[in-house]
Amino acid sequence: MSFDLDQRTGWPEELLGLLKQFPRETWRVHTSPVAQFWLDRHDAFRREAETLEAMTNEYRAERVATREFAVKSAPRLQNMLGHLHGHHQIEDFHYFPHFRTAEPRLERGFETLEKDHRTLHEGIEQVVETFNALAAALGEQPGADLDAQRRAGERYVEASLLLYRRLARHLDDEEDLIIPLMLHRG
Ligand SMILES: [Fe+2]
Ligand SMILES: [Fe+2]
Repeated sequence: MSFDLDQRTGWPEELLGLLKQFPRETWRVHTSPVAQFWLDRHDAFRREAETLEAMTNEYRAERVATREFAVKSAPRLQNMLGHLHGHHQIEDFHYFPHFRTAEPRLERGFETLEKDHRTLHEGIEQVVETFNALAAALGEQPGADLDAQRRAGERYVEASLLLYRRLARHLDDEEDLIIPLMLHRG
């Protein structure tokens, strides 16, 4: 199996011990305040990404103009990317060091999650860059080149959909590794 974020379909057997003891369907029953807070945070990211993706699909179906799409996406995007950055920092500098000391057998998993964060951050940079290029294309007036705007819109769409897909995988795998560990340690 691959540990790569774009190839991964979950964790290998050797990292699944605690998840078998605390399967997903029991998380709401055995929950702790920290685990619950973290799951809620992840669910908020999922909802934000789903909303942005739904807006993207409307744009792709040509039910929304490029300008309207950009104007409506901007605040949501900025909000989500800002929160995501802060969330990863807390994980990288607080949660992960603490948990990897507590459970060295999961080291490969933490290493993978940290690598995911780097990949996600490259993705965030791509999204910001392509969004700024889109805003610049929209700002060129008068005689706006609608094709150039559309192309810039497509580049942004491509970068953002890749980010949402990777984020969904990362959140699931991170939870599968860490929530059982939190519950196991009380
Ligand atoms: Fe993470
Ligand atoms: Fe997370």
